[in-house]
Amino acid sequence: MLDMPNIRDTLRAEYDLAPNPDLAAKMQDEYARMARVVSPADWAIHAPYVAAINALKRDRNATILAHNYMTPEIYHGIGDVVGDSLQLAIAATQTDADVIVQCGVHFMAETSKILNPAKTVLMPDMDAGCSLAESITPAGIAEMRARYPGAPVVTYVNTTADVKAASDICCTSANAVQIIRALDADTIIMTPDQYLAQNVAAQVPEKRIVWWEGSCIVHEQYTAQDIREFRDWNPGTRIIAHPECPPDVVAESDFSGSTKGILDYVSAERPERAMLVTECSMASNISDAHPDVEFIGPCNMCPYMKKITLEKVLWSLHSMTTEITVPENVADKARLAVQRMIDLGAKG
Ligand code: 13P
Ligand code: SF4
Repeated sequence: MLDMPNIRDTLRAEYDLAPNPDLAAKMQDEYARMARVVSPADWAIHAPYVAAINALKRDRNATILAHNYMTPEIYHGIGDVVGDSLQLAIAATQTDADVIVQCGVHFMAETSKILNPAKTVLMPDMDAGCSLAESITPAGIAEMRARYPGAPVVTYVNTTADVKAASDICCTSANAVQIIRALDADTIIMTPDQYLAQNVAAQVPEKRIVWWEGSCIVHEQYTAQDIREFRDWNPGTRIIAHPECPPDVVAESDFSGSTKGILDYVSAERPERAMLVTECSMASNISDAHPDVEFIGPCNMCPYMKKITLEKVLWSLHSMTTEITVPENVADKARLAVQRMIDLGAKG
């Protein structure tokens, strides 16, 4: 657990972090990307942190990989690469930086470390976990293998390194269907997200897919009844769901895709009104680039993603903590599963 009062005192002694409207006014390029969702008063609070982090990034030759669920001031203010889990994993294989700061959750930082054993990978808050990653251990993978002998194990990237190491290949929500179709097996084990597995099974009926019973605490909260009622109250709204939602929610929606898939759909379709059935920050982050789209409706917050703040990122780069480590024998096996996924995706 981070000692925030102490960290705050140390940072304030080193950097000028008081709200600064003049600095905020000078940083209009950054602000323009989030002006629809961040007020000028809030920007005056964020701007000193954004300036300090971006200067430290240059000093340390660091890059920031920021997931689509980060808050707008992180996503637009300090992210060097922004995207879904697959885009961030691929970016981690391509960076020339010495240091990677992962603005996302712990499993994403582990994936970056697995792909870059020689680089320093920093996690601004080690408590940024994930309900899916917590739902399964290597013993769970062994249990599934015993139950379905010979079936390959496809594991969502939202898992710990040792679970990846016990699996045959990884997937993300962007490439799960492609990976399942490409495997030469009739029965396939998917872990740990039961809903992603069921949504994939609906698209690949020729294969028998069996799954672990994990779920995402953000997406499992939506119900088909919510979606039907929302559609009745807001006719004409395009409803776009992440595949971590239960299958009946996806069935009630107009489109389902990874967070990049959601962004691509909104960019291509430009609906007048859209409801994103996913984490709250997704709509905020794409709002300014889509001024003609009104984003409406309920959204759920991921408490793990929201542990990452500008203050913690500044501390992380200032103190070069907390460094992610993965034992070599685990990283070597996990890398095979992640790399197989990336290679298979590259084949198209
Ligand atoms: P994607 O960004 O890959 O769609 O994943 C969503 C998610 O829940 C990450 O934690
Ligand atoms: Fe995990 Fe769900 Fe949060 Fe993503 S949104 S990090 S899957 S709990």
